[in-house]
Amino acid sequence: SDFNSDKRHRASEEAQHRPAETLSAHRQLYERNFPLYKQPVEVGFFSLDSHRNFFNDQRQLRYYVEPRKSCPDFNLRDGYTNRFVKRDDGVKEKLDHMLKWILANRDKIKTRDQTSSSSSALGVDFVTWRGHLTKVLTTPYETQEGWMLAASKFRGTIYISEVETEAARANRVTRSERQEEMMYWGYKFEQYTCADGADGTPDPGGVVNTNEAFCTVVQTRLADHKLLFSGEVDCRVKDAPPAPGCYVELKTSAEICTPKQRSNFHRYKLLKWWAQSFLPGVPQIVAGFRDHDGIVVSIQTFQTSKISQLIKNEQNCWKPTVCMNFCNDFLSFVKSVVKEDDPRLVYLLEWDPHRDVTYTVHRDSPFTFLPEWYVKDTRS
Ligand code: A3P
Ligand code: MG
Ligand code: MG
Repeated sequence: SDFNSDKRHRASEEAQHRPAETLSAHRQLYERNFPLYKQPVEVGFFSLDSHRNFFNDQRQLRYYVEPRKSCPDFNLRDGYTNRFVKRDDGVKEKLDHMLKWILANRDKIKTRDQTSSSSSALGVDFVTWRGHLTKVLTTPYETQEGWMLAASKFRGTIYISEVETEAARANRVTRSERQEEMMYWGYKFEQYTCADGADGTPDPGGVVNTNEAFCTVVQTRLADHKLLFSGEVDCRVKDAPPAPGCYVELKTSAEICTPKQRSNFHRYKLLKWWAQSFLPGVPQIVAGFRDHDGIVVSIQTFQTSKISQLIKNEQNCWKPTVCMNFCNDFLSFVKSVVKEDDPRLVYLLEWDPHRDVTYTVHRDSPFTFLPEWYVKDTRS
């Protein structure tokens, strides 16, 4: 509407002179043409072992093994009490693993024109986790959980690292026994469907250790924001195009028995699944639908690129273009706010449902997240 475009016009005019103080997350403001999002390119990968140690290789990459029956009898509760090693989610790793990857692989980051004087040493505008960007993408539709993102500029690149909100911490430390167990189910499904080697078979009798991870590092561009981010990848298919085209995201969800459940699945779950896989260019999602007792009753594959078609019959449903336009404007907002190049200075961006994005500035505070070993490195 005219009202919306006028508001937008004033916001962009303002940004040219002094940073806007806030950013609206109203979905109506972001119903524009889909912005340019370049095909993500994998520039590297790394692995985290059962002790959360970093390895600059793909030792933790697993292979998807199609279940032999379309309706397998996977019991996701099996092993919870006696074959489960849970990652300590009270330990905040921030961007550390990505920063280790950057120090070891900076030559692999592609600068399109080697001779051009990039305004940053790394040649990218933003470094972050895929999961942080997923939260930004889904913000215009989120009504339950807010977020806090810390941003610091170092040698021309803005690093973005999540800070746990007080509400998220409260949820984490008061989870019920049922919730704790259900968080295991997703990982157990991975064990039923993944093998360690290209010609291996899954080992459902083994231990589930959620410290282990394989992460892809991808480079892409959203409008004029050059991005470098990393995301955990569940597995790959054996005979397939090169990464990230070979990757598969595994998911579990409650079985769908009623039209209301189907609608909720489309409106809420598929939004998060789409955002998570679209960002790094993961083409397919294999979902295990389970009953209340954790028994998988069916398996269904979703093509990431077809999810937006799938949900179009849903009334007032989410739109990929709104997610991507909001992310684009959010990154522009961050660029306008994060002006000082100082790794000890943190701009804390905060958002709560039904509110605007706001920020505060903190020097030498507990929010500082770029470690000494990273900013002291002399190889720039
Ligand atoms: P499901 O999503 O199948 O339930 P991912 O799917 O991103 O690879 O994550 C693997 C599993 O980690 C999830 O499987 C879920 O069990 C758990 N998990 C991931 N993010 C979570 C979150 N925000 N809260 C609770 N559990 C989460
Ligand atoms: Mg995963
Ligand atoms: Mg998964």
